[in-house]
Amino acid sequence: MERVFNFAAGPSMLPLEALKKAQSEMLNYKGTGMSVMEMSHRSAPFEAIINEAESLIRELMGIPENYTVMFLQGGASTQFAMVPLNLYRKKKADYIITGTWADKAASEASKYGEARRVASSKDKNYSYIPKNVKFNPDSDYVHITLNNTIYGTRYTKLPDTGNIPLVVDNSSNILSEKLDVSKIGLIYAGAQKNLAPAGITLVIARNDLIGECLDITPTMLQYKIHAESKSLYNTPPCYTIYMLKLVLEWVKKEGGITSIEARNIEKSSLLYNFLDNSSLFKGTVVKEDRSLMNVPFVLPNDDLNKKFIEEAKKLGFVELKGHRSVGGMRASIYNAMPIEGVKKLVDFMKKFEKENG
Ligand SMILES: Cc1ncc(COP(=O)(O)O)c(C=O)c1O
Repeated sequence: MERVFNFAAGPSMLPLEALKKAQSEMLNYKGTGMSVMEMSHRSAPFEAIINEAESLIRELMGIPENYTVMFLQGGASTQFAMVPLNLYRKKKADYIITGTWADKAASEASKYGEARRVASSKDKNYSYIPKNVKFNPDSDYVHITLNNTIYGTRYTKLPDTGNIPLVVDNSSNILSEKLDVSKIGLIYAGAQKNLAPAGITLVIARNDLIGECLDITPTMLQYKIHAESKSLYNTPPCYTIYMLKLVLEWVKKEGGITSIEARNIEKSSLLYNFLDNSSLFKGTVVKEDRSLMNVPFVLPNDDLNKKFIEEAKKLGFVELKGHRSVGGMRASIYNAMPIEGVKKLVDFMKKFEKENG
């Protein structure tokens, strides 16, 4: 069977090259006579893998020396708790609510202190990013979701938080465009969109923020424990870290973030330009805040939405159903989605418009 174009929001497409490399190394990794899945996390070959993954992520994102890189477990959802448990000092933080994930992060932080929802775009079903937000000067940090996977919005500019550390959920657009890490206190991202299969969460934290935690913090949720043990406090998901290394090698080979960003702009523009000129399809997000990764769109009624999704599936465009809170469709076009996939989808949308307009 041919591989399909998988527009899923995550887990999602991985670069074919990385998958093929994993396939070729599956049974006997570099002459060890075993797969990476069977290897001790304390062995020399695995140590080389995790070190290489860290140095590639540092190089690709331009991470300054005074930041620690950690590969953790429990998904981005666990970070909703780890961030307040480790960053609360006065037990106060500001959250901008741009969708379901930001809301969940704020709810979790409310369990341990005062998580203040200082702005929200819920009034328009999260179709925009709140601007010129005023932050409370006594905040331990400000939390934002950089790209909103469900609603298809993204920050094109980081909010100015002055001296208050900025915490960024980068799950659905990490490595998709340039990001000045030095302007951010802590970044976290679940792997299953742009990094690797599900199983690890990448955390990049400024060293001065991770030395303390609330007394109640379980050992496994303390950044300083993971930082000191170089992400090997307990057994990590070794194979996922290996896959991350392969994906990062692919990103580097493709020309790094600059090239990947240019391609992502080209891919998303193909869809947005079509949507802006279509008499049948409609985008759901204000133009200036559109995501490069998740493109939601709707047809005039649910019968047409259903028909579109069914016909698309027959042609090998899968997982296009939108999240229930937006309805319609969502094309997630992460780094591994080739331009060809988006071009073919747009061609199909044009045909569908002619036949159903
Ligand atoms: C922006 C964002 N944050 C957090 C999450 C939750 O991630 P996880 O399933 O790894 O806990 C997701 C999942 O899709 C997401 O898109």
